[in-house]
Amino acid sequence: MTVVTIAREGKIAVVTVDNPPVNALSQAVRQGLCEAVAALDADPGVAAVVLTCAGRTFIAGADVNEFGKPPQPPHLPDAISAIEMAAKPWIAAIHGSALGGGFEVALGCRFRLAAREASVGLPEVTLGIVPGAGGTVRTVRLAGVEVAVDLVTTGKPVRALRAIELGLIDRIVEGDLRSGAVTFAENLADELPVPLSLRAAPSMPETFWENAEGAIAKRVRGEIAPLRALACLRRATEVDFASAMAFERTTFLNLRASKQAAALRHVFFAERAAPRPAPLAGIETRPLRNAAVIGGGTMGAGIAAAFRDAGLPVILIERDDAAVERGLANLKAIFDGAVKRGRLTEVAAEARLAGVIGSTDYAALADCDLVIEAVFEELSVKRQVFDELGRVCRADAVLATNTSYLDPREIAQGLPRPGRFIGLHFFSPANVMKLLEIVPTPETDAATLATGFALARLLGKVPVRAGICEGFIGNRILKRYRAEAEALVRQGVAIADVDAAMRAFGFAMGPFEAQDLGGLDIAFLQREGARAAGLDVPETLGDILVRAGRKGQKTGGGWYDYKPGDRRAHPSQEVDQLLHGHIKPAAALDAAAIADRLVSAMAREGEAILAEGVAERASDIDLVEIHGYGFPRWRGGPMFCISPGG
Ligand code: 3HC
Ligand code: NAI
Repeated sequence: MTVVTIAREGKIAVVTVDNPPVNALSQAVRQGLCEAVAALDADPGVAAVVLTCAGRTFIAGADVNEFGKPPQPPHLPDAISAIEMAAKPWIAAIHGSALGGGFEVALGCRFRLAAREASVGLPEVTLGIVPGAGGTVRTVRLAGVEVAVDLVTTGKPVRALRAIELGLIDRIVEGDLRSGAVTFAENLADELPVPLSLRAAPSMPETFWENAEGAIAKRVRGEIAPLRALACLRRATEVDFASAMAFERTTFLNLRASKQAAALRHVFFAERAAPRPAPLAGIETRPLRNAAVIGGGTMGAGIAAAFRDAGLPVILIERDDAAVERGLANLKAIFDGAVKRGRLTEVAAEARLAGVIGSTDYAALADCDLVIEAVFEELSVKRQVFDELGRVCRADAVLATNTSYLDPREIAQGLPRPGRFIGLHFFSPANVMKLLEIVPTPETDAATLATGFALARLLGKVPVRAGICEGFIGNRILKRYRAEAEALVRQGVAIADVDAAMRAFGFAMGPFEAQDLGGLDIAFLQREGARAAGLDVPETLGDILVRAGRKGQKTGGGWYDYKPGDRRAHPSQEVDQLLHGHIKPAAALDAAAIADRLVSAMAREGEAILAEGVAERASDIDLVEIHGYGFPRWRGGPMFCISPGG
């Protein structure tokens, strides 16, 4: 197949890249672009060139599949330089996304036109690398240093309208992009903009770079690419174009071979594999036009907010009128918070809330496509809810439980048509956290399972299929992680050293700080429940603290002490006394060894989970940890860490 073709519209040549699925810059595309430049320069009938792409997007970047292999010529910087220096001006016509190498190609063009819904960006840092074909060097020349620093070090794409404001593109084409771009090309003025490589770069004072470096280092916690990208941007303002290009390319090639880049590539492909399990290919999903949530507490309100964010009308069912009011107030608090943080306008927040009907009457659910139960974690309460749902809901409605630890098979017992029942395990806060564990029972039918995955897509979540066991994938590993952290403390390692080691590893919080924030009582009650049911659950150090009233920040202390109104953790003498007799004399362990112990414990539990078939792929376990538990993305997840490449 020819991946780069040339068509003619009078004196305008239209070069089309057609390399599905996302027009990545494979060797064949780079070669095709170089050949097109040569052919069109040699053609006296051509006045200008429009560069466009077939399919759903403009060029989405370098081909990530080629990153593990030695680079093959022609190299991208050379292809872009050929476009930039061509005798005929090239005009990029962008639809979909112009990302990474794709935006770098557009930077080599004299003009960048875009469809209104298009976006542009340099997301290389999200793959552990820096732009490798002039992205840093040309962007500072096009849009100034501040815009370039933001674009390159965050990796976040920007939509066309914003891109115009930032000076990253020239204009938006309404209507048909190709014909609009051809018309633009036909009407070019004699005087063309100077190629970016020939423009001077702005310079910035030393303090600007110091501040930027400090802010980025604080944000990235050990991730190297954003700081290296900043170094490239700085160099782009301090030396000539060719030297800056050479510095950027060397940085790119070095990082491409790094462990962090391998980890981030692993996550990139894991995220794309997870939403489309092979056995569900071609299975028709059930409709998802509206939804209901039973229970408007922490999780129910968060789930309802997630539905509203995705545009679904929601019915919220609670036990009584006062609880309905509380549930709606919980939802309002979520939207108010979004307004406060500037994520939502007041008008939008009102509209979100207006799309929720609160009720105590299950009859309101007669026409619901999907119902999610998020009531108390008690089997009898949940069964009562599903009795009602079995009575009132449509036969093809999907009925889901958000249980954390109960066995979904037991919850579904007695439900008519159990094929439509499934576990959909959200994470708190449910409107923010990206993970959705999808837990079918042996009776769940394929259409219901496929609808679970479709729901994840609709809500912008990362779906991972999990089998039934205590805690599914995530909470089961969490339990093992916490147990190993306690084992270190029993061995004499200071609580604060364990937390500091995991922060240094890249978590936002260590295991004990995180428990203090979330509350120690939830896991305690779960252990007590198991003990009451006759199971042999050994006493944990956390149990000792909860029995002494130390449930975490909300009680002024847990693993640490807290002062009123202050979330800073202070080592606690009371904890030392309570745990005295359970802890060996102080034994220092360095941070790397602590992190290694805890990550290995997570991975060993992950291996057991895989062996039992509770997870389908090691990479799914990594996604659970990254999107549900704050495992640093650039470390690739616990399973990646213990793999030969990790
Ligand atoms: N290379 C190779 N394959 C890619 C790719 C890339 N850059 N980007 C996407 N794909 C593949 C995916 O793996 C997926 O394959 P599959 O169907 O076999 O699973 C397929 O394309 C579709 O991808 P998505 O599911 O992500 O499709 P969406 O329509 O949801 O999103 C997109 C499209 C916004 C373009 C998204 O794919 C994306 O963000 N891609 C990554 C873009 C990127 O990071 N580019 C920078 C690369 S690094 C670079 O360019 C270096 C340069 O500076 C030298
Ligand atoms: P919560 O206590 O904050 O909320 C439960 C809500 O259910 C309350 O508002 C209560 O009034 C309502 N409720 C109780 N019985 C009801 C009934 N019969 N009909 C209608 N409403 C009823 O509890 P939370 O934390 O929201 O948990 C709910 C479920 O989600 C539990 O199964 C829990 O295990 C699970 N879960 C909790 C997570 C968390 O971090 N809190 C994370 C993931 C799942």
